[in-house]
Amino acid sequence: MALGGGVVSDIAGFAAATYMRGIDFIVCPTTLLSAIDASVGGKTGVDLKQGKNLLGAFHAPRLVLIDINSFKTLSESEIKNGMGEGIKYAVLTGGELSKMVEVGIKDLERFIELCVSYKKDIVERDFKESGDRKLLNLGHTFAHAAEKLSNYTLPHGIAVAKGLMSVSEYAYRTNKLSFKDKEKIKNMIKAAGIDETMPYKINELAFVMRMDKKADSDGEVSLVVPYSVGECKIEKTSIDKIVEVLK
Ligand SMILES: NC(=O)c1ccc[n+]([C@@H]2O[C@H](COP(=O)([O-])OP(=O)(O)OC[C@H]3O[C@@H](n4cnc5c(N)ncnc54)[C@H](O)[C@@H]3O)[C@@H](O)[C@H]2O)c1
Ligand SMILES: [Zn+2]
Repeated sequence: MALGGGVVSDIAGFAAATYMRGIDFIVCPTTLLSAIDASVGGKTGVDLKQGKNLLGAFHAPRLVLIDINSFKTLSESEIKNGMGEGIKYAVLTGGELSKMVEVGIKDLERFIELCVSYKKDIVERDFKESGDRKLLNLGHTFAHAAEKLSNYTLPHGIAVAKGLMSVSEYAYRTNKLSFKDKEKIKNMIKAAGIDETMPYKINELAFVMRMDKKADSDGEVSLVVPYSVGECKIEKTSIDKIVEVLK
């Protein structure tokens, strides 16, 4: 039983995936981020000196048990960190979840339920991330680059929120996302008390993106692009094009 945040469930899950070629495990997430993201979906892993999650396995828990009482001792910054991923789900799904995030969350259990059921549906369709599961990387192309540039002092969820803003700006400038929806996304980030500004220039981000294992040798990346709050699409684009649009 993994009782703790995402670090605990990633390590416990990896141990369970490999011990005796795989044993069952259950997860009791105690951070908002692990409740809505890390505990669900069966990705387990540990970091190596050479990079994040280089040792890992797909191994789904038998049960995820969430008790929101365990969040009472979380610091405000840990709650914001979780909300970064929460806003990502709101942009992906629109509807009830986005309305909730826009006005500030009153019913935390319902919020978690909506995030988890969205991730569960996608993961059940595409466990090994060959298609739709990539949608969950919304905002992450920019977020991963920013985290690396900050030497991992920028928390992941906060980086995701800033990354959502960058990719929204990209979508707006390429005439895919309306100004109104771009503002809506910005307001969701602000409502969560997160500073939406990206502290790095596009050239700095692009330099890191080119080194990412997910970029092809010719600088092609799969970018999840918001077309509206509630509709995102996976597109192949080049890092050069991203720089051209955002500079
Ligand atoms: N497997 C996946 O699909 C997946 C998805 C997202 C993130 N992750 C991984 O999850 C990790 C991040 O998860 P996290 O944000 O939960 O980080 P974490 O596990 O490091 O927890 C954050 C901090 O909160 C503390 N904490 C945990 N529960 C608490 C509680 N109830 N009250 C007070 N403090 C508490 C922890 O000790 C830690 O200091 C990263 O390593 C990331 O790579 C994995
Ligand atoms: Zn993430």
